Amino acid sequence: MTGKLKFARTALAVTAVALASAGAVGTAEARTAPPTTNIVGGSLASTAQAPWAIALNNSNSPVPSGQYCGATLVAANKLVTAAHCVGQPRSTYTAIQGRDDLKSTGGRTSKISKIWKDPQYGRVGGHDVAVLTLTTPFIGVATLPLETSRAADAVGAQSTVYGWGDTEGTGPEDRFQKVLVPVLGDAYCGDVYASDGYVANGEICAGYKSGGKDSCQGDSGGPLVLNGRLFGVVSWGIGCADAGNPGVYAEVASYASALQAQINS
Ligand code: ARG
Repeated sequence: MTGKLKFARTALAVTAVALASAGAVGTAEARTAPPTTNIVGGSLASTAQAPWAIALNNSNSPVPSGQYCGATLVAANKLVTAAHCVGQPRSTYTAIQGRDDLKSTGGRTSKISKIWKDPQYGRVGGHDVAVLTLTTPFIGVATLPLETSRAADAVGAQSTVYGWGDTEGTGPEDRFQKVLVPVLGDAYCGDVYASDGYVANGEICAGYKSGGKDSCQGDSGGPLVLNGRLFGVVSWGIGCADAGNPGVYAEVASYASALQAQINS
């Protein structure tokens, strides 16, 4: 797939998203790209071991399971997700905890009672973060703390991304997956994504220069985890797992105080 893809599972969000990065074009593409890899290049994961990983389904999703975005449980009643994931009407979302296969019915679900989207999103680059409030808190489920230090975004840091997103045809669809994506650093994405509006102070560049392993469409909003903390939020990339086009993640530490204020509210 080519083009900067920063929409979840629908092309409808693209217009808003195109404003997000100066010079970037939010190009809509059908999910018909030829299979390249499988979260791409990852392995099956277990929500029993990552209970804070939440599937954010939407009734407007183009995929039959409703899979749309990811999110992270950061308090019993609060999720962090991507701002570009929250453009649908509030009532169309369902948060799902503890369900490895979205074609099955296990785990717990909740509707969303409130959406907070970073007000800077779409006005300046970065800021692809949002906080959702659950109508039915996931009491007793382990939460992830926010990373608050921007020093965590260091080249070589071994972070892992989780999600139910697109495998581009080679892996099982709708199954919870994970993949290790080392931090490549702001200088690298600042270079390869110079015309796409990469924001060093607010985004994390992670993956492999040679490609092969990456997050992909539908993983947006989901967790990039480092040292047991929510380090990043899946945001965008050009294609998925292509050489020279790594994944870009919202840098949680850059927005931690605004996020924490919403989590506490
Ligand atoms: N924007 C995509 C989504 O909404 C996530 C893209 C991530 N892309 C990547 N190459 N890491 O699901």
